[in-house]
Amino acid sequence: MRRKIVVGNWKMNNTIAESETLAAEVLAALGDNFSGCEVGIAPTFLALESAGRIIEGSEVQLVAQNCHYENDGAYTGEVSARMLNAAGCSSVIIGHSERRQYFGETNATVNLRIKKALSEALNVIFCVGETLAERESGVTGSIISSQVREGLEGISDISAIVIAYEPVWAIGTGKTASSAQAEEVHLLIRTLITELYGDAAAQALRIQYGGSVKPSNAAELFAMPNIDGGLIGGASLNAADFAAIVKAASH
Ligand code: 13P
Repeated sequence: MRRKIVVGNWKMNNTIAESETLAAEVLAALGDNFSGCEVGIAPTFLALESAGRIIEGSEVQLVAQNCHYENDGAYTGEVSARMLNAAGCSSVIIGHSERRQYFGETNATVNLRIKKALSEALNVIFCVGETLAERESGVTGSIISSQVREGLEGISDISAIVIAYEPVWAIGTGKTASSAQAEEVHLLIRTLITELYGDAAAQALRIQYGGSVKPSNAAELFAMPNIDGGLIGGASLNAADFAAIVKAASH
């Protein structure tokens, strides 16, 4: 039985002080009620340290939103996996569609970042997902498949990786993939992983869904056999909503 995992991706929201407040609110809203579910929050880089102090000693994990593929050097504006590890992060999100769409990330740079994060002992939340145009032209399967294959190229052990399926058309739009639509792609990903890494690795792999997950649709999504939790954007900025989503994953 795979343990569900719910992570709040705060994206570019909240100052340091606001992040501290939200982290404290999340802890209070969660209470002790989330056994059986792994939980993380991903504040902006700037607030990792201070939000990390708030959740220290709790079971909530500190997650970063991206990392570079070198340890250090002349990469203005970037943050390395080594720095994230030293700042107390246990995981990092890599390949989010907003990084691909607005910051030129490709399957190849995503692959480099994943490798570097793993080498710095970080767990990785590796994001994949098709755009609306891709879905409408019937190429969802081949897009997801090349994102997964190329993103994992040369990586032999995927035990520290969670894959997040986030259809781009469902992110921040209020349009959720139906549980059947999401399950279809999750199954496709697990089948592909079976082909690449064998049955044991595929059965152990957690595949999160992301895209307009809310308290009202979380339980139905998480009930699908291949959906192992959620990567939550907008709803994670409200502690009560986030806690309700975690609760839906905790049964
Ligand atoms: P929303 O939940 O706001 O649609 O964002 C999903 C997401 O991109 C999480 O990484």
